[in-house]
Amino acid sequence: MAGTFITLEGIDGCGKTTQAKLLTEAFRRTGAEVVALREPGGTQISEKIRALLLDRANAEMCSECELLLYEASRAQLVREVIEPALARGAMVVCDRFYDSTYAYQHGGRGLDEALVNTCNQLGSCGLAPTCTVVFDLDPTTALLRATKGGADRLEAEGIAFQQRIRDAYLRLAAKEPARVEVVDGTGTPEEVYERLVAALADLIPAPLRSEA
Ligand code: TMP
Repeated sequence: MAGTFITLEGIDGCGKTTQAKLLTEAFRRTGAEVVALREPGGTQISEKIRALLLDRANAEMCSECELLLYEASRAQLVREVIEPALARGAMVVCDRFYDSTYAYQHGGRGLDEALVNTCNQLGSCGLAPTCTVVFDLDPTTALLRATKGGADRLEAEGIAFQQRIRDAYLRLAAKEPARVEVVDGTGTPEEVYERLVAALADLIPAPLRSEA
């Protein structure tokens, strides 16, 4: 594929959505075609699946159903949006991708690691990110931030769940150091952005680097 595929990851409230916005705006100022996406979501079908997944009324949803819905949403996004964008040579910035499934459904829910990896292979249609940044933040601070306006179904699981997810992200980064970078998520959005740009130095055009 001609384009570049960057994914941003972390526990709920880690600040990655703000960083995705800053990064996307900076890339766009260079004249590059940037496709900004979030998971689950990004297509009509995937947004409907997102609503199902986050709805607190679906408290009885079992972990297997949850896993398959995330994968279903992802497969549609890959086929309908990400693959065509990368084929055009675009920069794709995705707020979460299959590492969220590893961290939440394996780390958080306790589903078998090999099973989750196999499902991720299907849901991603075999597509891997060029580079992944994990924003690392203490779960207490992050969850307070995430739930200011109310908690969705996943956020309602509480601190211990977020701690297991954080641990899974850190294990993943240790396992795949060539693809996954951990960035300290503490401080102001500008401070975190500066670290993000440094982490992506190899992929980022020089004019963009100097804006941090
Ligand atoms: P968001 O709030 O960052 O948009 O993500 C939605 C929620 O879904 C968030 O709590 C993380 C969770 N999630 C998973 O549990 N597994 C996944 O594969 C993805 C993409 C998200």
